[in-house]
Amino acid sequence: MAAAPPAELLDRAVGVLRAGGLVALPTETVYGLAADADQAAAVAAVFRAKGRPAHHPLIVHVADAAAARAWSTAIPDAALELMRRFWPGPLTLVLPRSARAADGVTGGQDTVGLRCPAHPWAQALLRGYGAARGDPHVGLAAPSANRYGAISPTSANHVRADLGEKPAGRVDLILDGGSSPLGIESTIVDFATGRARILRPGSIRAEQIDAALGVPVRRAGASEDSPRTPGRVRGHYAPGKPLELLDAAQLPARVVALGPARIGVLAPADALPGALAADLALQLVAPADAEAYARSLYDNLRRLDASAAQRLLVARPPQGSRWEAVHDRLQRAAAGSDDALADAD
Ligand code: TXA
Ligand code: MG
Repeated sequence: MAAAPPAELLDRAVGVLRAGGLVALPTETVYGLAADADQAAAVAAVFRAKGRPAHHPLIVHVADAAAARAWSTAIPDAALELMRRFWPGPLTLVLPRSARAADGVTGGQDTVGLRCPAHPWAQALLRGYGAARGDPHVGLAAPSANRYGAISPTSANHVRADLGEKPAGRVDLILDGGSSPLGIESTIVDFATGRARILRPGSIRAEQIDAALGVPVRRAGASEDSPRTPGRVRGHYAPGKPLELLDAAQLPARVVALGPARIGVLAPADALPGALAADLALQLVAPADAEAYARSLYDNLRRLDASAAQRLLVARPPQGSRWEAVHDRLQRAAAGSDDALADAD
């Protein structure tokens, strides 16, 4: 990955944003589909390109904490502390919105999701766009750059495959800044109710938030799922094929029962006897390390989806806080493939 986009490419991206167009933007978590958050028509185009319901809020990406103040009034001290500790980085804060955060961005809610990405290309675009507009507080409204309900993109090729570039596709410019180094979406901490609450686990772990705040942060329970946070809807992040999560020890019997030729597997290298593994439609080796697992997860799910396999089996990764975000995404992927939930997105 180049440290920053070539100047000519950056200029083109800035021009696209000024004209109300859409730029697929590499970030350290996943690729975003970015529009100028001040332009209502551009924000509306993001929803159309994704096929996302209009009342779902978008994250506004800003260059730094000073810019965040233009988008949120009354930022609680605890949120400021999290900005100091984790920005730029994979943390989104849900805060009371300012007048600048329009209904199209917030889904009509009185809160706004703010994130300051660390990826050098995202930083370069935010700063370049701020300079072009003569306003360092500009915001880029950007959801993940995938069709609604599909797997988030962690490379420019994923975006090309899913949304595509105009004129044939839906995005004005896809910036290729390499593979996303973290690979799963940001941790979301909600301050709407006063006390911090984690809405979506991510690379920044709950215990790191606890340590920064000096009090245990609340974890939103599964029963709190709501369309206000589509990333938390069961069935989000789902591949198109039925996906089953199971203990590695159950894997051989399950493969035999279903017939290996129909099955794609994501599991540790030693989870299946070699003879059985050889007959699978596709076997992907699950990294033993949580960070590497997260980085490759969405690419692995896409490869399984594109394979000849009709059903997908994923060995449940280890427990522990380092794995919490991975478990969350795998559970959603498995839930999304249940027949009863297949049309939830
Ligand atoms: O890592 C990420 O967060 C990536 C990159 C591109 O920054 N973005 C991302 O965006 O995952 P998206 O739209 O796919 O998911 C953002 C989540 C959604 O579930 C959305 O509902 C929630 O953030 N969100 C945004 N604003 C919110 C608000 N005001 N209240 C509650 N949830 C909010
Ligand atoms: Mg998304």
